[in-house]
Amino acid sequence: MLNKRPDDMQRINTLELANAFIDEQVKEIRAQVKDKKVLLALSGGVDSSVVAALLIKAIGKQLVCVHVNHGLMRKGESEQVIEVFGKELGANLIYVDATDRFLDLLAGVKEPEKKRKIIGGEFIKVFDEEASKLEGISFLAQGTIYPDILESDGVKAHHNVGGLPEDMQFELVEPVRLLYKDEVRVVGDALGLPANMVYRQPFPGPGLGVRCLGAITRDRLHALREADAILREEFDLCGLAGKVWQYFIAVPDMKSVGVKDGKRYEGWPAIIRAVNTKDAMSATIEEIPYPILHKITDRITKEVEGINRVLLDLTPKPIGTIEWE
Ligand code: XMP
Repeated sequence: MLNKRPDDMQRINTLELANAFIDEQVKEIRAQVKDKKVLLALSGGVDSSVVAALLIKAIGKQLVCVHVNHGLMRKGESEQVIEVFGKELGANLIYVDATDRFLDLLAGVKEPEKKRKIIGGEFIKVFDEEASKLEGISFLAQGTIYPDILESDGVKAHHNVGGLPEDMQFELVEPVRLLYKDEVRVVGDALGLPANMVYRQPFPGPGLGVRCLGAITRDRLHALREADAILREEFDLCGLAGKVWQYFIAVPDMKSVGVKDGKRYEGWPAIIRAVNTKDAMSATIEEIPYPILHKITDRITKEVEGINRVLLDLTPKPIGTIEWE
């Protein structure tokens, strides 16, 4: 399998080029897989979604997608995977709601690296269990993209929460391995995937787990998910969604005193983070207009149970990383 992008390979930036790529990959995938079955961990992120759509086009029901909901997804994301792949594209989709497993294991765990390890380890376990229930799987599809190959020097090792156990003996199918992210998105568009899936922001493998700071509790995680959904809605409405590279809410494990309905109301703060970057190695802060900030603050404090303040993170990277944990 070719692992180096040929020097003369054209950048896929038009529908025609994307369609030509899709036709070529469909042929290649069919030639590689024949009548065998392929397994794919479908997170709903751009890369795995595009790989799923390509494989469905090439081999239909010979593809088995497993979507593990670790309970740390953004609002509506697992539902969208079921809607788009299970219903619209008719994929062979196994949906595993493993929320309780993850949250039980994470209960009381404060330390960020420990949280990441638990989430990564449990993800592999759940996926492995599902895989072992299936018969006749010969191939494993992965959404590896070209930067993953270029950077496979360990720098991003902790990012690959979907990394699979080494004893899984499958041959790999990696149809977008020579593409850059922008090309994967053009291919996703050409395959007819919804824009909010194709242009989705980067989302850490451990999901909201690294934004619900310290020891995760279900009530604070719920508040985080709702506040984050409001931020996304408001960014969509005012046009910032298409402009800002990554934006989200983090909720720390601390409370302050406030007043609600004339009574003392202790709640958590919701911290807005909105950054721009090219490569995530450094990042600058988006200057969100004050009227938008006021509206977001108003909605979050009124609509989200448990939140009584909204703060704005003005810290560039470095010194702050993009995520809080
Ligand atoms: P930091 O916080 O290191 O993040 O400045 C840089 C970019 O990487 C994303 N990120 C992750 N992505 N798994 C991922 O797939 C992870 O564990 C992970 N941690 C951080 C982060 O959202 C940002 O885009």
